[in-house]
Amino acid sequence: MESLLFFLMTGIVTSNGETWRQLRRFALTTLRDFGMGKKGIEERIQEEARFLVERIRNTHEKPFNPGKFLIHAVSNIICSIVFGDRFDYEDTKFLDLIEMLEENNKYQSKIQTQLYNFFPTILDSLPGPHKKLIKNIEKVDDFISEIVRAHQESFDPSCPRDFIDAFINKMQQVMKYPEIEEKIHKEIDRVVGRDRSPCMADRSQLPYTDAVIHEIQRFIDFLPLNVPHAVTKDTKLRDYFIPKDTMIFPLLSPILQDSKEFPDPEKFDPGHFLNANGTFRKSDYFMPFSAGKRICAGEGLARMEIFLFLTSILQNFTLRPVVDRKDVDISPIVTSLANMPRPYEISFIPR
Ligand SMILES: *[C@@H]1O[C@H](CO)[C@@H](O)[C@H](O)[C@H]1NC(C)=O
Repeated sequence: MESLLFFLMTGIVTSNGETWRQLRRFALTTLRDFGMGKKGIEERIQEEARFLVERIRNTHEKPFNPGKFLIHAVSNIICSIVFGDRFDYEDTKFLDLIEMLEENNKYQSKIQTQLYNFFPTILDSLPGPHKKLIKNIEKVDDFISEIVRAHQESFDPSCPRDFIDAFINKMQQVMKYPEIEEKIHKEIDRVVGRDRSPCMADRSQLPYTDAVIHEIQRFIDFLPLNVPHAVTKDTKLRDYFIPKDTMIFPLLSPILQDSKEFPDPEKFDPGHFLNANGTFRKSDYFMPFSAGKRICAGEGLARMEIFLFLTSILQNFTLRPVVDRKDVDISPIVTSLANMPRPYEISFIPR
């Protein structure tokens, strides 16, 4: 059986050296070939956003947890890039794949799995969630090879998962602050109107919406530990000597919470990304997708999806929480690596 360590070594997030360079080049080329940065991908996301809006409309204002709908929509974009087509939301193959990826995410944070990375031989002889993870990884593998053998290694669930989780949080945040949602509604009505889908060209005309999206990502601080990096050569940093190949975790929190760059960093305030005259303010401190050569390979795609999904939803709906707004708990559930949003329910009221 293929060992987990081997599997992880071959993934984009955890592989090193030549393997990583090859994989990353492959992933970026694939994304580019399939239309990232071109008009094609934007149209795919707009199309998916319309399916998503229709699906939400069919809930008829009944409160529900939108997490699943968003995960399906975001996963479908990746499917449409990798496999060439989107899936119907009811497609059982599609639903099975997503369920497996979800389970894997859960199992990956379990202590046995983490230990497995260091002591594979010992853990191999013990029962536990790492076994199920390995099984699932094999099943996901089978699924993908069935659809397109050539792209087997290109499916890296880690980045899409990051967007999805950031996104679920996003919906919740907007909901917590009705005056912010109201301003976004007004801006979308003024710039986009109600009759066409929002597109990327609208972004520069939507500085407030753009600032809210940035602030949400700054505020949720999704991967406080970042992903592990390795020192490529002997390095002296201040008084410390870090030998080549040491595993390091470059922390993102102190940057996203810098009080000079973002006054009152613990406060949720879209003003952190606005100039006094209301234009969008760029910040070099904004790096929720990590930094350096390992910056999330799907960053451009993620930004586009987040912008187009959020504007499409708010163009069509007003969000209403089930509990009193002041009781909405936006603190994350802390897991070993990532800050996950709490489960929550929302009603989507057509505008
Ligand atoms: C708004 O302010 C920013 C920074 O203060 C400046 O760079 C920009 O030119 C101003 N834009 C307008 C339209 O006044």
